[in-house]
Amino acid sequence: MKRTLVKHALQSDSEQPEILIQGWVRTRRDSKAFSFLEINDGSCLKNLQVILDADLPDYSQIHDATTGASVEITGKLVPSQGQGQSWEVQGATLKVLGKADDTYPLQKKRHTPEFLREIAHLRPRSNMFGAIFRIRNRLAYAIHQFFQEREFVYIHTPIITASDCEGAGELFKVTTLPETPPKTADGKVDYSKDFFEKKAFLTVSGQLEGEVFACALSNIYTFGPTFRAENSHTSRHASEFWMVEPEMAFCDLEGDMDLAEEFVKYLVKDVTTHCADDLQLFNSFVDKELLNRLSFVMERPFQRVSYTDAVEILEKCGKTFEYPVKWGVNLQAEHERFLTEEHFKCPVTVFNYPKDIKPFYMRLNDDGKTVTAMDVLAPGIGEIVGGSQREERLDQLKANMKQHHLSEEAYWWYVDLRRYGSVPHAGFGLGFERMLMFVTGVQNIRDVIPFARTPGNAEF
Ligand code: 4AD
Ligand code: MG
Repeated sequence: MKRTLVKHALQSDSEQPEILIQGWVRTRRDSKAFSFLEINDGSCLKNLQVILDADLPDYSQIHDATTGASVEITGKLVPSQGQGQSWEVQGATLKVLGKADDTYPLQKKRHTPEFLREIAHLRPRSNMFGAIFRIRNRLAYAIHQFFQEREFVYIHTPIITASDCEGAGELFKVTTLPETPPKTADGKVDYSKDFFEKKAFLTVSGQLEGEVFACALSNIYTFGPTFRAENSHTSRHASEFWMVEPEMAFCDLEGDMDLAEEFVKYLVKDVTTHCADDLQLFNSFVDKELLNRLSFVMERPFQRVSYTDAVEILEKCGKTFEYPVKWGVNLQAEHERFLTEEHFKCPVTVFNYPKDIKPFYMRLNDDGKTVTAMDVLAPGIGEIVGGSQREERLDQLKANMKQHHLSEEAYWWYVDLRRYGSVPHAGFGLGFERMLMFVTGVQNIRDVIPFARTPGNAEF
């Protein structure tokens, strides 16, 4: 007999004389004449109720069908007498495949996210985490769908790289040198003896390689893991996270901001349509404003404000921030959240940042002070998108590199793009986990990644 997923059983449009269900026991209730089992197989949030009569031959196994045990049940799918579900199974056979004794940590009571993080190998079996990872799956699918519908080409950029795209020096080194490495004559580590015959790292962004492909295929996107060795212990930073990076040739900052806004709205619409049950759980237990906020985000245009105007708003707002604000400083999470949550009360795209706080590849504006950067800030999260129009003028790019103390030789292939058929181009990076936090209302990035990597943390 072919297995029926719980999700499909619950959506059935007719009775079924014989079905096979496989899953894990969530709860069991016994009475004299029968037992009720709640079975979950991860295909949806809801459990399927199974009734087993005490006079069935397999009923002797019922004591092993405890919370957490894996079971296989055949029976008849019939309309449910109980409330809150349309169908239930009148069991005919029961097989306990794997027992779970009473040390099984996910008992019926609600557990804190902190506790569940310590059992990351079991937490996908809880309601909340099952829902998160089904939504994560849908969001990944919707990302591909969005770009494929618009003729963007999916490019796989390397995970091992020799360049520091963001120039922030937050790189994990990739090396096979021994613990006592060979040295050069002047006493430095001799990376020419290393595996790649130069210093290599885990990538912080696929952008530079993405630009190469945009300058050939016009519109491309990357979607993959990125790594940052920044020692920030915040609820929004992970050392390993996924990023989506579109890059468009023949596109300026305006077009870039338009795409970012359309993209974020599309993703919100897609998950609210396809993950309604799972999102309802978050709306009930995590953030009662969630669904209101998401529909608001879909309907309204994002606000756009230049960095200079944003700083003026912050200076005049009368609020004391932990990090004082003035023109030229990086916006901190508290500033971003003030703008989006209190001032504009909607997502905000901030553009044209001071050149000194941004990476070398951003296009210099005519004022000579700002670059065509843009960040999308979302309520509850802060920055979810960071992007820019790129410097496409050879001389200016070289000047930027000089200012950032980058060697032209090391980036010769990147500079070549400006030498041969250069075009205005732009792109951005959307933090996949940040987006997932935004659509679920979950406050900690560790709870939207299957196995979080953060400073001091690589168990599982
Ligand atoms: O703003 P970032 O650093 O931009 C770039 O890497 C560009 N190269 C992107 C581009 O233009 N192609 O990072 C982009 C996004 C941020 O807005 C944020 O959502 C996310 O990546 N992000 C992180 N997410 C989780 N943990 C971290 N440590 C993150 N750092 C950035
Ligand atoms: Mg950024």
